[in-house]
Amino acid sequence: MQRMKAAAGSVLISDREIRDRVAEMGARISDDYRGRAITVIGILKGSFIFIADLIRQVDPAIPVELEFMTVSSYGSGTTSSGKLHIGQDIESPVEGKHLLIVEDIVDTGLTIARICDLLASRGAASIRIATLLEKETRRGHPLTLDYIGFRIPDKFVVGYGLDFDQRYRNLKEIRVFDGG
Ligand code: PRP
Repeated sequence: MQRMKAAAGSVLISDREIRDRVAEMGARISDDYRGRAITVIGILKGSFIFIADLIRQVDPAIPVELEFMTVSSYGSGTTSSGKLHIGQDIESPVEGKHLLIVEDIVDTGLTIARICDLLASRGAASIRIATLLEKETRRGHPLTLDYIGFRIPDKFVVGYGLDFDQRYRNLKEIRVFDGG
């Protein structure tokens, strides 16, 4: 039987570290939204594991609605194409709702800035952003990220939902991609 190479590169953030940080983020979100309902807008595909873990760390007394948007800017490369492609849009109106946009990674900030503009134009009552990862080198789009899991160096990372050319999303940890 042919042996398959399992890992994609060195571990940057372990599954244990992710679990602990996501629990802290959920606790902060619970404190901040007490008495209000949250509409979580998950930006697919990369954030799907983070969303699943994060919303289970929100106090069950806080009503949580879930919507998804499918957005892509990388294509099959390792740098952003700069062009935002919205595939699937959310299904419900957001007017008057408190939105929490959930991303896996903010790199240039282009994606999240465009999504915020779009949802603000639809009349959201408030918009906050939660991202698992933020690139330390980010510049260009000076928008506030309300909940940040980890700031990471300018490396291409995979795992815990993040892919290279649709692979490695199923890794439990975040790894620096070494070319496969
Ligand atoms: C990634 C990530 C963000 C965006 C961040 O999506 O999930 O949406 O890129 O980059 P930016 O801050 O430079 O705009 P990707 O295009 O890889 O799609 P995917 O989530 O479906 O893998």
